Amino acid sequence: MLSTQSSRAVKLANKASSARLADCLSSSYDFPSRPPCRLQVMHNNDLKKTHRDAIWDIFELNMRSLYEDSSFGWDPQSKRKELFHALSRYLLVSEGGSTELLAFVHFRFEVEEDENVLYCYDIQIKPSAQGLGLGRILLDELAKLGSIFRMEKILLTVLKKNMRAIKFYEAVGFSVDPTSPGYLESDEELSPENAEADYEILSKQIMSDVE
Ligand SMILES: CC(C)(COP(=O)(O)OP(=O)(O)OC[C@H]1O[C@@H](n2cnc3c(N)ncnc32)[C@H](O)[C@@H]1OP(=O)(O)O)[C@@H](O)C(=O)NCCC(=O)NCCS
Repeated sequence: MLSTQSSRAVKLANKASSARLADCLSSSYDFPSRPPCRLQVMHNNDLKKTHRDAIWDIFELNMRSLYEDSSFGWDPQSKRKELFHALSRYLLVSEGGSTELLAFVHFRFEVEEDENVLYCYDIQIKPSAQGLGLGRILLDELAKLGSIFRMEKILLTVLKKNMRAIKFYEAVGFSVDPTSPGYLESDEELSPENAEADYEILSKQIMSDVE
């Protein structure tokens, strides 16, 4: 059963407006030799068709072959349902004066295993803007939001084959979550079923004094 305290923080976070979230974050970022990047915070309800199409295009470009080759399979209908869920929130990054989407983060405030979590469903950066430090910045922004809205950790799922993403998450402080099929206490062995899983659940504790 969910504790009242846990679900209360999540309910409050889910009621917060996009403007309230945006007030907690930087509105632009500078990278050497590039126009400044602009950050927008949006709720699923605020997304226009052009946003949804651009989000889908980056997702498909980056992830289609990984999904096709995984136990999840490539299922556009169910992924669109997940992306554009009623509680989905977005950080959207565009460059200079352009409205073209460069990167996005899709996240939600949820209760998982009786904990308040900020679940990062997707972080997707166009290939031309990968490796600049934008991914690290965006996850730091999620940690700020998590701290302000009293979430305990950031949680995410990653395919084991996505080695680049795993290296990235390790570099920015994530580790295997106790709910992951690959999580091991020191004296345990993985069950055959857990060893076969082609994904891991990673998490990072949120510091309560970020702001
Ligand atoms: C994974 C992804 C979000 C990382 O974002 P990014 O902006 O490219 O990463 P950053 O430049 O912020 O890198 C941060 C750190 O991660 C590590 N890192 C990033 N890419 C790496 C790679 N290919 N190999 C090893 N380490 C890497 C580095 O240590 C880097 O630290 P540094 O800044 O001190 O060099 C981005 O590459 C991406 O969108 N990939 C395709 C989509 C995807 O796989 N998303 C995750 C789905 S679970």
